[in-house]
Amino acid sequence: MFSTAFLDLPALQGASGTVTLPGSKSISNRVLLLSALCQGTTVVHDLLDSDDTRVMLAALRQLGCGVEVQGTTVTITGLGGRTWPTEAIEFFMGNAGTAMRPLTAALAVQGGDFTLKGVPRMHERPIGDLVDALRELGCAIDYLGNEGYPPLRIRQPALQLDKPIPVRGDVSSQFLTALLMALPLAAQDRAITIEVVGELISKPYIEITLNLLARYGIAVERQGWERFVIPAGSRYQSPGTIHVEADASSASYFIALGAIAKGDGIRIQGVGADSIQGDIRFMDAAAQMGAKITSGPNWLEIQRGAWPLKGITLDCNHIPDAAMTLAVMALYADGPTTLRNIASWRVKETDRIVAMATESRNLGATVEEGPDWITIHPLPAGKWQRASIHTYDDHRVAMCFSLAAFNADQVPVRIEDPKCVAKTFPDYFEALFSVAHTAASNIPVICIDGPTASGKGTLASRVAAALGYHYLDSGALYRVTAHAALQAGLTLEATDEAKIADLARSLPVHFEGEQVLLNNVDVTDAIRSEQGGMNASKVSVYPAVREALVQLQHSFQRLPGLLADGRDMGTVIFPEAPLKVFLTASAAQRAERRHKQLISKGFSANIDALRADLEARDARDMSRSVAPLKSAQDALQLDNSSLTIEASVEQVMVWWQSRQVFS
Ligand code: DC
Repeated sequence: MFSTAFLDLPALQGASGTVTLPGSKSISNRVLLLSALCQGTTVVHDLLDSDDTRVMLAALRQLGCGVEVQGTTVTITGLGGRTWPTEAIEFFMGNAGTAMRPLTAALAVQGGDFTLKGVPRMHERPIGDLVDALRELGCAIDYLGNEGYPPLRIRQPALQLDKPIPVRGDVSSQFLTALLMALPLAAQDRAITIEVVGELISKPYIEITLNLLARYGIAVERQGWERFVIPAGSRYQSPGTIHVEADASSASYFIALGAIAKGDGIRIQGVGADSIQGDIRFMDAAAQMGAKITSGPNWLEIQRGAWPLKGITLDCNHIPDAAMTLAVMALYADGPTTLRNIASWRVKETDRIVAMATESRNLGATVEEGPDWITIHPLPAGKWQRASIHTYDDHRVAMCFSLAAFNADQVPVRIEDPKCVAKTFPDYFEALFSVAHTAASNIPVICIDGPTASGKGTLASRVAAALGYHYLDSGALYRVTAHAALQAGLTLEATDEAKIADLARSLPVHFEGEQVLLNNVDVTDAIRSEQGGMNASKVSVYPAVREALVQLQHSFQRLPGLLADGRDMGTVIFPEAPLKVFLTASAAQRAERRHKQLISKGFSANIDALRADLEARDARDMSRSVAPLKSAQDALQLDNSSLTIEASVEQVMVWWQSRQVFS
């Protein structure tokens, strides 16, 4: 996840490949509970790993359910046909509404001695309408705190199923979902009727519930949106295996991506055209605008069809969330696009009509808006502005405007507060970068160089973290090369130069955070020693070795950007880098820092010897003929002898920001 203050998306040029989207939250927890209420075993694939599903799994285990987790596959051995627990059980529901509501209903209908608690916020979330409905049918539920709110105590019910059960539908559809999933437990010898009081909201979610119930053998009879009848003789039956669909609203960004970006197409794994989620109908709208879409069970493939896209006018009532994505597609169309019947946009995470209009204008577009509609005019080449997109703590605004990076003018797009995507898709930008591509010249590189122990590694990795960029520690590559050469029985002498270069050309090195792996073996400590540095310094003077490492170093220039630290980053490897910093500090300062570092790692060290060593290394590094230590001509000098790390980071950020101006 990108938790930086902003994320600069370089201008993107194309996209190809496969993305696997995270499972839908609402489907995940419904499937878990339904599987638990069945007899026998259900294998659930592609379960979402989130707080809500963890809470549900823990509760099911407490009830005696078999739960086996292997990655995103969970095997549930249900409680059907088994003895229901009689001992008192206390459940902790955290803040998981999608677990609390349906579990309360199922436990209350089945009966026992159960207490359900949560975090303080959970105790402020109303559950009174559900409890009222359950009491109406004879369930024994007490409030342990405030009337109408968790925590709850549940006892043995005396079910009265002869009259219809009223439940309010205008507050949350989750109450109706909870009843629909619990009542089949009681419908062995009589039909049970639920009557919705008030106008039912979020109907697509009730459709998901009904659809899943059908998969588990329960054919609920729906009469309009007012009455639901669970037929007599209903019995949960495991489907054996079930796949949790990916979130269809999340899919909209990649459907749009396939329609906008040049390339071999985008394959979305996890959701198909037969999805039970209402938002999947976004694909029809995208197709109308020009996307070429094919689909199979659990997958979609999208290719650019019409280009430019075609402007459309559409009633979006059935796809309120995904329709936002159409607004960004509209920037790439041949004429205006009008999205109608979107009044609900005004009362979401933010006023989404205002947000989409404001940020589209920020990019340069002409937009008209009304109480429940928006018209977006396409943005032709020459008119795109470098915009910093404000995201209003709204995940969908952030994800939508990332698609503006494919603009004809090849200007970058800044997304503020990118972590807001975590609400539904924490790794959205990673997924985007895994399929998007662009010319290397569009991917920014910041080079930081300086003498050994100047703190360039720390500075570079901190700046990388602040920008969400990748980090290349080129010194580590020379260290690993020397290590690999010695391991292979080579000397580090000039006679072995060619062999060392051969090794370097296909170095099986990987970086995982601070760890350096060679052939999947952790060599971090070995290469970070003083001896490791000396050995690196020896192999780094061989031109053949330097040449052999060029390609590997270039491969680090990936989206969204790179911080490269080391000797020749700004002069040889990335000469076009838009910012180069030459970091220095006095030898005394550097010796002190290196001393601290070594001591903290448990090595013994002598500060005077270190200083002498550093000075000797400086002299050798500066005077050597191959890639001597010298500042790139266009590098900015930063002496950090008396600067904290934070101040140094701040200085580099200021320099960087002054070169990256967004409106
Ligand atoms: O930055 P460092 O201490 O890990 O570097 C180890 C050695 O490798 C050092 O002597 C300089 C050399 N080096 C180089 O020649 N070119 C680079 N790009 C990085 C490091």
